[in-house]
Amino acid sequence: MTDAGADVVIRGGTVVNDGWQAPATVCVSGDRITYVLAADEPLPSTHSDTRVIDARGQLVIPGGVDPHTHIGMSLGDYTTKDGYPEATTAALWGGTTTVVDFAIPSPGQSPLEAVERRLAQASGGRCDSGLHACVVDWSKDIPEQLRAIAARGVRTVKLFTTYRDVVMAEAATILRVMEVLRDIGGLAYVHAEANHLIEDRQDARALEGRISAMHHCETRPELAELSAVQQVLATAEAVDVPVYFVHQTTPAAIDAVRAARGRGARAYTETCPHYLTLSSDVYAGSAPELFVCCPPLRDRAAVSAVVGRTLAWAVDTVGSDHCCYDTAQKRAESFDVRAMPNGLPGVETRMPVVFTELVAQRGLPVERFVALTSSNPARLNGLYPQKGVLAPGSDADIAVIDPHESRVVRAAELHMATDYTPYEGRRLVGWPTTVISRGRIVVSGGKFTDPGTVGRALQSKPISQRALLC
Ligand code: URP
Ligand code: ZN
Ligand code: ZN
Repeated sequence: MTDAGADVVIRGGTVVNDGWQAPATVCVSGDRITYVLAADEPLPSTHSDTRVIDARGQLVIPGGVDPHTHIGMSLGDYTTKDGYPEATTAALWGGTTTVVDFAIPSPGQSPLEAVERRLAQASGGRCDSGLHACVVDWSKDIPEQLRAIAARGVRTVKLFTTYRDVVMAEAATILRVMEVLRDIGGLAYVHAEANHLIEDRQDARALEGRISAMHHCETRPELAELSAVQQVLATAEAVDVPVYFVHQTTPAAIDAVRAARGRGARAYTETCPHYLTLSSDVYAGSAPELFVCCPPLRDRAAVSAVVGRTLAWAVDTVGSDHCCYDTAQKRAESFDVRAMPNGLPGVETRMPVVFTELVAQRGLPVERFVALTSSNPARLNGLYPQKGVLAPGSDADIAVIDPHESRVVRAAELHMATDYTPYEGRRLVGWPTTVISRGRIVVSGGKFTDPGTVGRALQSKPISQRALLC
């Protein structure tokens, strides 16, 4: 603590970290947490401007760390509607204080150039952000580029096994990138769907005239996900590199990762709020295009199984996979899922959707909610304990959430740069009443105080050679 005393004191609430909760007081000086005190301990010194936040009846948690966003992403012919200012503002409204985005090279751009461009864009952020690099094609200078990227604090590399002719990496490229990542303390971040199985299905469905948004889930079968997960797991185990599977949607794929973990592999599973709460029933509804994402939403049995595995600790993180397309973009080519933009907006709703579905409705311990939405994403991205924990010395990224107050989701009342939400009309609990981002109170009393372009590009520490999570 500095001599000047605490700038912010949050008292009266239940402080929750991954692994424990207790009635406690959190003190902030400048942009750091200085004390986490038992509720009956005397307060440290304060000053005349100290803000005291009364958190009685509320949970005080580490600000969310969203490990998977696509801010201002151009993939194929479409670009999402937001930039760092809009997406990070929406994140803060929803209790997320760190986003980790992707530097996906545009055609002809190198991974290093893509990272440098993204790092410059990130300076427009209202909160801190991390970055994943992305390799599409192998070339002999990739190892050197990945070392240069690591020197800029980026140690996670996205590899897609699908989206041929756009960002798909061949199996041999994945192997070689993994070998470099092993040597530089990196982590492979993988979108696993077997492209040949998808294209085969798409071709067949197109011949039958069944290729519009309402047929989306038929074109990307569960088996395609499992097949790619198994192949990538085998490669990662052969290389002995940590591997993280983004947006897992099926029990079989999650089980494959869990079995690898049991063999000692450093393999990790992410799922997304939509795979926990929405089923493929929506593709038979009036606006199937608004729910087109890859992998697709699955049937109710799969959703229920993914929820069950998340409750049973078989899932490590929940990322939003935020893609801020609007209705017009989703509708423009909804007659052909091969051409339309995929992905759902969700950086703002991630925390309340997960809190409602898992904690409020199914009894997930709130400590595990913190692990899934903040601590584990921070650990896996080399950001812990700077992010993902309320502890002295950590960044003062804090969300105070009221576990009981509910609000009905309306796109018009959200802050993402789009005109729809997949959760329209749902009643959710777990919205933040106060959000503090590096010591600044940005959300309070239903109002947002814009901190300006204060977001830093975070430096990821080398990913440990030991198991990152149990
Ligand atoms: O449908 C999705 N998820 N679109 C965004 C890109 C990706 O595959 O993560
Ligand atoms: Zn993906
Ligand atoms: Zn994604």
